[in-house]
Amino acid sequence: MLLEALEWLVTPCPWTARWDGSLARQIAIRHRHHRCRAAWADHLARSRSQVQKCQNRLAGGLMVVLGSGHLNDVPAPPSGFRSVLVDLVHPVEIQIAAACSRGRLVLETADVFEVSSRLQSVIAAADFCVSAGLLSQLALDPRSGPGPGTAALHWKLLSSARHSLLITDVAARSHPGEAWDPLFDSSALPEPCAEWIWPLIPDGESPQGPQERLVRAFQH
Ligand SMILES: C[S@@+](CC[C@H](N)C(=O)[O-])C[C@H]1O[C@@H](n2cnc3c(N)ncnc32)[C@H](O)[C@@H]1O
Repeated sequence: MLLEALEWLVTPCPWTARWDGSLARQIAIRHRHHRCRAAWADHLARSRSQVQKCQNRLAGGLMVVLGSGHLNDVPAPPSGFRSVLVDLVHPVEIQIAAACSRGRLVLETADVFEVSSRLQSVIAAADFCVSAGLLSQLALDPRSGPGPGTAALHWKLLSSARHSLLITDVAARSHPGEAWDPLFDSSALPEPCAEWIWPLIPDGESPQGPQERLVRAFQH
């Protein structure tokens, strides 16, 4: 708790990120990741491997990562790539990595729910755009209405890049064997290229009980 408070105080970010809770949520993800490291390992490895497969098919160029956060589920861009990391708030360790990257890693603090024309042009210029672990958050945003709107718009945005990869949790359930509860209307998305289960909340992590998520990857 003390560490989280200290990180909240020292992370450089817009005041809105402190006020609306996005910095606190960002910091909480680091600590939850630490506690759930073993349970999340398979999910993070699968997610990283999907990104790596796409990276290997490209010689390099501009890579844009939407909802980059701590880069837990996206591997650091290999040499040959310049990267733009887009998030509401960038964790302090990513800010340090960017400052030491000699311009290879550029941070863009932006809202992917209401995409500015500047962000649209950054994505349209990208050779490869990745969105990992972001769409379910956009779909649960109070600004999001019912229906396929949020998923459709996000997929359209990603598809403006030369190549793109969307990795998102699409459904939740409390126990293995139960029916999946969709997190949002994903009917606008194409056939997934991969699918796996993520034990997001393992036994003992929350008083509300465990929760697993169905994760899918989509490629363009
Ligand atoms: C579940 S985390 C996934 C993080 C990241 N992919 C990782 O590996 O750590 C979702 C990320 O999306 C960011 N995010 C949530 N809503 C956003 C929005 N409207 N615009 C931009 N980023 C957003 C959060 O700040 C967080 O870093």
